[in-house]
Amino acid sequence: MNFEILQRSLDKVLSEKVDALVVLWPAQGLSPLHAVAQRVSAARKHQHFEDQPGQVLVSYGCEGVHAPLLVVVHVGQGRPSDGRRAAEAAWNQIKGIKPRTLGVVVPESLQAEALQAWAMALADCSYSYTTTLSKPSARSLTRVRFFSTQPAARLKPAIAQAQALMAGIELAKEWANRPPNHATPTHLAEAARALAKGARMKCEVLGLREVSRLGMGAFMAVAQGSAQPLRFIVLRYDGAAKSKAPVVLVGKGITFDTGGISLKPGAEMDEMKFDMSGAASVLGVFRTLAELRPTINVVGLIPATENMPDGLAVKPGDVVTSMSGQTIEILNTDAEGRLILCDALTYAERFKPRAVIDIATLTGACVIALGAVRSGLFASDDTLAQALHQAGEDSGDLCWRMPLDDAYAEGLKSRFADVANIGGRAAGSVTAAKFLQRFASQYPWAHLDIAGTAWKSGAAKGATGRPVALLVHYLLGQS
Ligand code: BES
Ligand code: MN
Ligand code: ZN
Repeated sequence: MNFEILQRSLDKVLSEKVDALVVLWPAQGLSPLHAVAQRVSAARKHQHFEDQPGQVLVSYGCEGVHAPLLVVVHVGQGRPSDGRRAAEAAWNQIKGIKPRTLGVVVPESLQAEALQAWAMALADCSYSYTTTLSKPSARSLTRVRFFSTQPAARLKPAIAQAQALMAGIELAKEWANRPPNHATPTHLAEAARALAKGARMKCEVLGLREVSRLGMGAFMAVAQGSAQPLRFIVLRYDGAAKSKAPVVLVGKGITFDTGGISLKPGAEMDEMKFDMSGAASVLGVFRTLAELRPTINVVGLIPATENMPDGLAVKPGDVVTSMSGQTIEILNTDAEGRLILCDALTYAERFKPRAVIDIATLTGACVIALGAVRSGLFASDDTLAQALHQAGEDSGDLCWRMPLDDAYAEGLKSRFADVANIGGRAAGSVTAAKFLQRFASQYPWAHLDIAGTAWKSGAAKGATGRPVALLVHYLLGQS
């Protein structure tokens, strides 16, 4: 989907050749002389189109309007949540006519952030997955033309940023949505290599031999039951001087989580194809960086493997040695995310990073704690936590800080190894984070548990592309 911004006078806009015309209605309203404002005030006399984000007024075949369909939508105060409501409401009215081009009237008083929020939300609700359909119905909406009465330059950066962010989010959705036989560790590595063709990008892929030489015993233990070879993906975006310490993003890349020998129940097990959503979000961030080229250095690490039961699979009770040297008693093979992440966190030390953020569909307990609204945020560093929290608020891709008191680590004690990989049912998302923290002592560290936010179950089953927007906002703030 392509966004563009053009300068047009209000009268000219109405005669634009588009399939549908949307007028974004700001909190302040439009000049009462404007034809659209007169429609709105007429509607208000009948208690239609109240003063609330998401209110819509739909008209067909308006005189003087070229587009067959005109939709006025209230965008509220321009907060991300207002933008979402407004985009959903507008799209619900428009999608039936399968528009190819959309014209959007941007009033003078609308802030660039509000426009961006609306554009991002529109891209989100008009997305649909097609890759493995035999007769993919191509996305009809290919062009969105924003019309402003002011010089286009004012809004150009916001639109360019929305476009780049949308591409990253859609790449993350694409990989998370792909069926597990179409998104193996090898496929993920190929996707990373393709991304690295862009300027300032590099990619290196390690296989079993290299990973074994590094001593990644925890990662290898998860992979040993799978017929698909593991991959450890290292992506680099070098947008700043070499001397600038990078931010490292670590994405959980379990391309399918059966639970291993601690097998999961059958119902909805297909959803565990989304267990590489953290990895997908790292790919998505790199896709956006390639387009925006900010002055910052970023490293992306993706340990990728399936978690399968097998004659050779790791067993409850097995003790393995991680890359850090710490030994781990694997009491539950379904707590595999932390096992592949811990070795990636140790590997991250070599970059002397200014911050390391891991992103993982780590625990069902986080779904219980925070649902689909906010991702769980855990951090050893207050400044980093604050910056990530704020990036969430600004982008509408929300998170919430959770505790890391040492008392939560009690349950991880083991008689047979330095640490166990589970810590009991209580506060499950926190004990998982406490496990990871043991491997992240050498740099400011944060962990995002996206188990509840990375995908939707039910009829609208699919990936959300979260938390790409949060991470991109954070990184742009650091450049
Ligand atoms: N990938 C799952 C976490 C998950 C569960 C995400 C449900 C979304 C929905 C993870 O690997 C896992 O299985 N975690 C276990 C940990 C437990 C064994 C300590 C869980 O949450 O049940
Ligand atoms: Mn699991
Ligand atoms: Zn998992």
